[in-house]
Amino acid sequence: MANRVLMLFGLIACATAAMLMASTSGAQAPPSKADGLEAWEKAFEVFSHPRCVNCHVPEDNRPRWSGPSYGAKAQYHGMNIIADDTRKKAAGLPCTSCHGVSNLPFAKGAPGAPHWALAPVEMVWWAKSSRDICEQIKDPARNGDKSLDEVVEHVRSDDLVQWGWNPGPGREPAPYSSAELADFLRNWVNSGAPCPVAG
Ligand code: HEC
Ligand code: HEC
Repeated sequence: MANRVLMLFGLIACATAAMLMASTSGAQAPPSKADGLEAWEKAFEVFSHPRCVNCHVPEDNRPRWSGPSYGAKAQYHGMNIIADDTRKKAAGLPCTSCHGVSNLPFAKGAPGAPHWALAPVEMVWWAKSSRDICEQIKDPARNGDKSLDEVVEHVRSDDLVQWGWNPGPGREPAPYSSAELADFLRNWVNSGAPCPVAG
């Protein structure tokens, strides 16, 4: 009898030890707020890149031609392209009449990806600070009513986002990769999605 009780205790002790080991070795500590802010700043390097902000423009509805391939100074889209409020066409001419589903294979040729259009006006990132864009991305009223998980999924899989790393001859791709951007955002979300206090 005494032996059996001892054996039972032994079993319980082993099981408890195994559980403790599993929980300490398996679970990773969430990233700290400082790690989260660092991850956000890398994501901001992408969000503020010409390949992204040229479409995420303000109420003037004018796509931008900015970045080294367009010269030192940012310009408005040539040919007087000004989108209407749908942000998908200019003077009745759909953006997709020039912007096909893939890039034209020569410098200065129209870049292409499916559903080429300006981002909705509430998603304006042009000339915005790191803090502003950070607050916007967290605000469902200004991010297309997305959860943060859905934002991460969007940058991983959306065609227009992917185009930022395959922008066609002569244009500089966005920094990092879309997978790295998704990882930065994942770490940022896991750290509580902190935004910088200034800048
Ligand atoms: C050709 C124009 C275009 C380009 C270039 C573009 N976007 Fe967008 N973006 C859009 C449109 C349009 C939407 C609205 C959602 C949709 O229709 O896919 C959007 C929405 C988003 C959203 C979801 C909204 C939010 O605030 O969370 C994210 C994130 C995003 N874009 C990231 C990027 C990143 C990162 C880049 C650059 C690597 C980029 N986009 C380049 C047009 C563009
Ligand atoms: C008449 C043809 C034409 C129409 C219509 C047109 N575009 Fe363009 N777009 C171009 C060409 C060509 C380029 C590339 C210019 C270059 O590389 O020098 C370009 C470049 C761009 C760029 C720059 C991308 C980058 O980061 O390099 C954006 C953004 C853009 N267009 C958005 C739009 C939007 C949004 C619409 C619809 C409202 C539109 N375009 C309608 C021909 C057109």
